Amino acid sequence: MSKTRFLITINLVLLILSMMFLNSCSNPMESLRKVTYPPDFKYTEPSKLRSEMGQLAQQMRMLDEALNERPNHNDVEIEEQRQQVLSALAQIERIASRLQSGNSGANHPFMQDYMDTFVSQVGEARVAASLPEPRYYFAGKISGGCTSCHRINR
Ligand code: HEC
Repeated sequence: MSKTRFLITINLVLLILSMMFLNSCSNPMESLRKVTYPPDFKYTEPSKLRSEMGQLAQQMRMLDEALNERPNHNDVEIEEQRQQVLSALAQIERIASRLQSGNSGANHPFMQDYMDTFVSQVGEARVAASLPEPRYYFAGKISGGCTSCHRINR
């Protein structure tokens, strides 16, 4: 390679690098993502994802507490427990659906599949908990859905 060609090449590389840099002053990783993901790709900002996950964890604790209660065959207590379980499940479903669809989809198609499964499991748990004789078997398995996604996607 001649010296001039070498200098031209170096200059081009510097030019490209500086354009990339200017493009991405605010957040270099963010603009890199614009390049590495297809345009219609629904990407959730890590900070947003984390805060939604924090909310999921909070509702998960409420659900656990509600499931741990042992109502004394007393209709009022049985109904109170059901309402607590249903409320936690509804919140979990709402947060998970928000991550699943709209403009803040899951991080990649693989995780999207997990989120779809997760949301339908939560729906199933809600239906079972709404039965005249509430059944909490599926509600008790929700945390397994959190874990199985974390094992693969974190
Ligand atoms: C479809 C996949 C998926 C499901 C289902 C899921 N998570 Fe997550 N979760 C993730 C991913 C991915 C991260 C990593 C986010 C990051 O650190 O950028 C995460 C991170 C977290 C974190 C750590 C947040 C932080 O501050 O770093 C908590 C807590 C959490 N999830 C709780 C839950 C709970 C509770 C559930 C179930 C009710 C759940 N998640 C269901 C994918 C999932």
